Amino acid sequence: MKPLSTRTEHFTDSVIRRMTRISLKYGAVNLSQGFPDFDPPREITERLAQIAPKGPHQYALTWGAQNFREALAKKQKHFSGMAVDPDTNIVVTAGSTEAMMAAMMSVCNPGERVVIFSPFYENYGADTILSGAIPIYVPLVPPEYDFDADVLEDAMKQADVKALILCNPSNPCGKVFTREELQIIADLAEKYDVYVITDEVYEHILYAPHRHTYFATLKGMAERTIMCSSLSKTYSITGWRLGYVIAAPQIIDRVKKVHDFLTVGAAAPLMEAATVGLGFEDSYYRDLQARYTAKRELFCNGLEQIGLSYTKPQGAYYVMVDISEFGYESDLAFCEDLAAKVGVGAVPGSSFFKEPENRYIRFHFAKQEQTLQTALERLADIDKMK
Ligand SMILES: Cc1ncc(COP(=O)(O)O)c(C=O)c1O
Repeated sequence: MKPLSTRTEHFTDSVIRRMTRISLKYGAVNLSQGFPDFDPPREITERLAQIAPKGPHQYALTWGAQNFREALAKKQKHFSGMAVDPDTNIVVTAGSTEAMMAAMMSVCNPGERVVIFSPFYENYGADTILSGAIPIYVPLVPPEYDFDADVLEDAMKQADVKALILCNPSNPCGKVFTREELQIIADLAEKYDVYVITDEVYEHILYAPHRHTYFATLKGMAERTIMCSSLSKTYSITGWRLGYVIAAPQIIDRVKKVHDFLTVGAAAPLMEAATVGLGFEDSYYRDLQARYTAKRELFCNGLEQIGLSYTKPQGAYYVMVDISEFGYESDLAFCEDLAAKVGVGAVPGSSFFKEPENRYIRFHFAKQEQTLQTALERLADIDKMK
């Protein structure tokens, strides 16, 4: 038999999902793969039950149901001030995962380069390979996860740099880029004529005093920003696979075509039910932040009492913990032992870094208080890993 595609031969399985399997094997509290163990808003699930007998059950318009896009445009205008035309500025996708892939396929030719901050969300590596692009990594240096503007410029000015991927707020490190940092990126994007593909799935999960700045709202950036986001995290519906791209009409025109051939469209009944969520009042988003702030405080205070060293996240729902004091050579081996001996699942930091970094593991805290308490009780025994 002929070999399968060379493009995909170096794909590994996702370490995050592997850690979920390992957590299951040992009955560990799974703080590896980032999804909530609590229910979505009742209004959304009730709407789903209401429409089940009558639909829509057939294909929606390929770039998304009209009422969903209208509700999304209104929400985006409300939170960012951006004037978004539901017909020419939006494509609804199967999660932000498809949004990012469609954006990359629409922008990059094989052999062109894409700048990615490291540590990074693991899909970006695969997205660049599938689109034929070559990644250039720029470090976000722990424990503060700052970047050096000169290093970024060195990357941006290389030949054939077509795009930069900006994950803000960031998974895995919880960084929320300041307006000043975003301005540095915007100036370089302008100077070297680079598209900026943003991943803003955690736009509503932020901790005071940090605020989210939509990159497209920076002066001159609306034309070169391809914003990818999602309903997964904001409404706790990661399984519904609803995401979207917002960009200028000539870019959206191309993304619509790529998306049409990739998936045809997002799930019609789920768009209909989730439209209710897009219309929620501000109080929903304030409550969401308050609930996540309480989880962050509970979990980080617990880590502190146990004596673990960590970087407090400014946004998203992950914490990077420094494990150097345990003397492991491999963070993967550490995570396997942690699941087996302590009973808590985490992700080895090396799966997010391009640099040879072995000192960190990532926990997520999108869990009920009781689940987090159980994890902390177990982590109190972590010294047996020494
Ligand atoms: C940074 C980031 N982008 C994208 C995704 C996937 O989003 P979606 O469920 O919309 O595909 C995740 C999920 O964990 C994520 O952390």
